[in-house]
Parts: sequence; structure tokens; C-alpha cells
Amino acid sequence: MPTIAITGSASGIGAATAEELRRSGAGIIGVDLRDAEVIADLSTPEGREQAVDGVLSRCDGVLDGFVACAGLGPQVDDPGLIAGVNYFGTVALLDGLFPALRRGKDPAAVVVSSVASTHVTWDENPLAPLVQSGDEPEVDAVDAAVAAAGEYRGQYAYAASKNALTVAVRRRVPEWGAAGVRVNTVAPGSVETPLLRAGEADPRYGQAIREFVAPIPRHGRPEEVASLIAYLMSPRAGFVHGAQFVIDGGVDALLRPSRF
Ligand code: NAI
Repeated sequence: MPTIAITGSASGIGAATAEELRRSGAGIIGVDLRDAEVIADLSTPEGREQAVDGVLSRCDGVLDGFVACAGLGPQVDDPGLIAGVNYFGTVALLDGLFPALRRGKDPAAVVVSSVASTHVTWDENPLAPLVQSGDEPEVDAVDAAVAAAGEYRGQYAYAASKNALTVAVRRRVPEWGAAGVRVNTVAPGSVETPLLRAGEADPRYGQAIREFVAPIPRHGRPEEVASLIAYLMSPRAGFVHGAQFVIDGGVDALLRPSRF
């Protein structure tokens, strides 16, 4: 029975993924703020350490899979917190669990990024200069980096954190491939979860989310993202490594048909 750690396992895409992988026979170590095997706050260095230690002690240092779903949405009014969970929290777990994944059977990881990762380029990503050193910057530095977006700074921090996250995964692809650990990202569009509902309820973003119609004219379901993640985690995806899979009902192709 493969052992798989999943962050954000208490809700939305993470909960659906935990359920799908459990059904296929995996043992799940969920990591979340609540309702999980490992309770940890990924916004702080101490919480991330607690999460890595908690997973490692439950899997005896051997992990077959890791799925990073924990994240905060653009409506959260603290750019430092968005970057802290979406980028630094995820990267700390990827790196902290890598040695255990190397010892696993057919090991694989999937990181949930977002279509928003393509809304800024790395060259123009305001977080790029701040994440290069690997050390987490002061919250004030993150605030200052996205301040130009005014009341939409949460959206800017969100897109920047997801762009940086996809870049971080892609940069690990040579080392992870050589170690036999596959890693890919998925980039969902609007998926029906508490995170999306909080965005819909937000006065800044709600109307745009509600009125936008995708080529497949509905929001995605968490189970649909979970089924893509389950495929990427399985040996059937044995040659899939370093890729980003958009799952957005056709929005990316609608908005930029000639850029891919
Ligand atoms: P959700 O809000 O249903 O689930 C997120 C989970 O992350 C929650 O269980 C929450 O407790 C956990 N979490 C948040 N902060 C944490 C922290 N500091 N420490 C530990 N756990 C924490 O949201 P959803 O939609 O399932 O999001 C999952 C991932 O999918 C996120 O990374 C999100 O950015 C991404 N995503 C979601 C989209 C959507 O439309 N729902 C679209 C694109 C990407």
C-alpha cells in the first residue's frame, strides 16, 4: 500500500484527492490546520518543520507520494501570508520530504499551482527577486513588492506566488528526475471549493468570477482535479515529469490561443 502525504487535505481539492487516493488503496497522511493526521500551520517556519517532522515520523522516513494542495486565495488581504503558504510553505515541504520520496516505490509528487501562474511572467514576477535566496523575506518586503496593484494586491500576490511555485517545481526537475522522483504541477481554473466561494463573496473579485463564462460553461469540481492528480501520481504516468497540466474548462485556450 503506497503512503502519500497531502497538504490541504481537510477541504476542497485536497480532500477530494485524499478520498480518491484512499479509494485506490493508498495510506494518506493529511496535513492541514485542522481535521488532518498532522496539524500544522504552513505559513510559519516552525509550522513547516512540524509538518515535515509529523509526516516523516508517520511514514518512517519512506514516502511514495506527496500532493501539495494547501493554499490561500486572492481575496486574503495579506500578501505576505499568501506568499508564505502558497510558495514558502509548499517549497519547504517539497524539499523537506524529498529524501523520504527518494526511498519510496515509484515515487511521485504533484503540486497544485493555478492558471494564475501564467498571469505574470517570471521576468516580471515581483516575488522573483525575493525568493531567489531561498530565505523567506520580511512580510513588509512582500507588501511593498505588490503594493502597485492597490486593492488588487491579493490577486497580484496570488499570481506571483503561483508563478514562483511553478518555476520552483520546474527548477527541481533535473535533480528529482535523476533521483527517480517524478514531479508535476496542475493549474486549475475556477473549481467549486470554499476558496472559490470566498472569492465570489469578495466585493473586489466576486462579480468577475460570477460573470465569466468558460468554454465549458461551469466551474470545475474538486473530484475532476483529483482524478487528474491521481493519474499523475500513478505509474501509468511514468514518463510524465516536469509538466504543468491546465484544468480550466478551456479558459487558457480561450484567452491566449497562440501562446502555450
Ligand atoms: P480550500 O480552501 O478548499 O482548501 C485549502 C486547504 O488549505 C484548506 O483545508 C486549508 O485549511 C489549507 N490551508 C490554508 N492555509 C493553510 C496553512 N497556513 N497551513 C496548512 N494548511 C492550510 O481551497 P481549494 O480550492 O481546494 O485549494 C487547493 C489549492 O488549489 C490551493 O493551492 C489553491 O490555490 C489552488 N487552486 C484553487 C482554485 C479554485 O478555483 N478553487 C483555482 C486554482 C488553484
